[in-house]
Amino acid sequence: MKALLLENIHPEARRLLEGAGLEVIEKRSALDERDLCAALPGVQILGLRSKTQLTAAALAAAPDLLAVGAFCIGTDQIDLAAANGVGIAVFNAPYSNTRSVVELALAEIIAMTRRLTEKDRGMHAGVWDKSARGAHEVRGRTLGIVGYGNIGAQLSVVAEALGLRVLFFDTADKLALGNARRCLSMDELLESSDIVSLHVDGRPSNSSLFGEKEFSRMRPGALFLNLCRGFVIDHEALRAHLLSGHLAGAAVDVFVDEPRSADEEFRSVLRGLPNVILTPHIGGSTEEAQADIGAFVGGKLADFVREGTTSLSVNLPHVALPPPAGTHRLAHLHHNVPGVLAEINSVLAEHQVNVEAQLLGTRGELGYALTDIGIDYADTVVARLREMAATVRLRVLS
Ligand SMILES: NC(=O)c1ccc[n+]([C@@H]2O[C@H](COP(=O)([O-])OP(=O)(O)OC[C@H]3O[C@@H](n4cnc5c(N)ncnc54)[C@H](O)[C@@H]3O)[C@@H](O)[C@H]2O)c1
Repeated sequence: MKALLLENIHPEARRLLEGAGLEVIEKRSALDERDLCAALPGVQILGLRSKTQLTAAALAAAPDLLAVGAFCIGTDQIDLAAANGVGIAVFNAPYSNTRSVVELALAEIIAMTRRLTEKDRGMHAGVWDKSARGAHEVRGRTLGIVGYGNIGAQLSVVAEALGLRVLFFDTADKLALGNARRCLSMDELLESSDIVSLHVDGRPSNSSLFGEKEFSRMRPGALFLNLCRGFVIDHEALRAHLLSGHLAGAAVDVFVDEPRSADEEFRSVLRGLPNVILTPHIGGSTEEAQADIGAFVGGKLADFVREGTTSLSVNLPHVALPPPAGTHRLAHLHHNVPGVLAEINSVLAEHQVNVEAQLLGTRGELGYALTDIGIDYADTVVARLREMAATVRLRVLS
């Protein structure tokens, strides 16, 4: 089997895939659709990051492809419906950079509370300003977290360790960690917080979640952070509240129109404002996160190749059996229609094949069954299972 890794993926992924017996070919850059279509025949495993677009056309040109590893958080660059149609497993790394985002948010909370960037800029300009005016400790201040998911919840825990009081608001039911207190509305959180940090996901309804009304509700002198998605906030409204002095500072890492490369100028109405920290979407960009992504996605792909395991796959049912011992494993991906498992088992029974272990999972339109059988069976067994009307893909693993 062959793996093609694009976009300079961390070396840990190569090590794991070679350990699973794959030949690994690496390319530092992304490929456009035409080059991808030319490169994919003969490739079973594809690794990419955010710049390679895996379109329906590219998937159609990949007859041997079994799985795709998105060595990043998002999977918007992959046509998941097309991948489902041909039964290609997709894996990503949803949690690998959680800690990195949390640490940047905390660094920015302290930096803004102490007005560090202003002092730093002054010193570089030769100004020795020792005044304590507007500089505070974070201890005892109230942090309001909007969106208490992976990042929000971890921020809550680490912020409490620094002596911050934590409030949160989430549209879903969430367990409050430590001494954090849940607010029943966003307004309650905004009116009670010295610092507001947004960590909601990118669902379309979160577009313009935070605008003039929400900024107005915040306490005078409060700080604001957005490290989640650019389209969630109204930057003009934030600028107005910073210029009026209603808000004492802001840290923003994500923007609607982000430059595609360092050659393009970064444009924003927030540029040049005092006590505003602007960062180029680097919340999750640390060497530790990259290494974790390489190990996490590389491990998922290796387990899929070796054992057919689909735990935490983005698109396939999640199925995992203990590694096969002295058996063959049939990995049968099929349309989720009634009677498929019975049909698989009747083919096996007809051919006197004993089932040692079996697990079925379904998800939306797909079903996935792992079946461990003895190593002696007629070739017609595999042919019969492939011919089933519901079969999308069948792999035999040893
Ligand atoms: N800056 C970066 O580099 C960077 C890195 C990683 C993740 N992110 C972004 O951070 C965000 C959070 O990531 P995560 O892994 O914690 O996601 P998550 O899905 O684990 O958590 C999101 C939480 O927000 C809640 N939520 C959604 N809409 C809400 C609303 N309108 N009001 C209140 N709560 C709401 C959800 O119920 C969920 O609990 C995502 O948007 C992600 O894209 C940014």
